[in-house]
Amino acid sequence: MSISSSEVRIVQWQDEAPALSAIRKAVFIEEQHVPEELEWDEFDPVSIHALAVNPFGAPVGTARLLPDGHIGRMAVLKAWRGRGIGSAMLQRLLDEARHRGVSEVILNAQITAAAFYAKFGFQTSGNEFMEAGIPHVKMFLKL
Ligand SMILES: CC(C)(COP(=O)(O)OP(=O)(O)OC[C@H]1O[C@@H](n2cnc3c(N)ncnc32)[C@H](O)[C@@H]1OP(=O)(O)O)[C@@H](O)C(=O)NCCC(=O)NCCS
Repeated sequence: MSISSSEVRIVQWQDEAPALSAIRKAVFIEEQHVPEELEWDEFDPVSIHALAVNPFGAPVGTARLLPDGHIGRMAVLKAWRGRGIGSAMLQRLLDEARHRGVSEVILNAQITAAAFYAKFGFQTSGNEFMEAGIPHVKMFLKL
């Protein structure tokens, strides 16, 4: 089953915090064992968030775009991966970034997700580093 970009909404943290945080809790805290105190930070209220809902209207994916052009917290519930949801959210946030005049999008990719971002033209920069106990690499995309 594929999902069209029309099923990805752009939302504010204050309006959808329960849905957004439930997905991140399941993926980052429970599945990837990211310490809870590292997951929540001061950037959520100032970011715009992608919220993907499945054909039944249930929230299944999220990601955020910070005001400085950083994309992060990209997560799709395990049962819903591999159906284009992550791609639809990333495309939507790249469109938003362009719309806001961002010239370069930067992200810290988990090494295992670098190939996902590379499909969108992201290039790696520098060496691997550890963040929240997970190997990462910096990636960037000029818009
Ligand atoms: C990374 C993630 C968001 C991708 O979401 P998704 O909905 O499965 O992605 P899509 O279905 O849009 O996949 C798009 C393409 O990227 C590929 N891809 C997706 N995740 C990948 C991964 N971890 N490694 C390599 N390729 C990947 C898919 O195979 C697909 O390729 P195709 O177009 O040739 O079929 C999802 O795997 C996830 O939530 N992972 C756990 C959290 C995480 O690691 N987040 C990234 C933090 S940097």
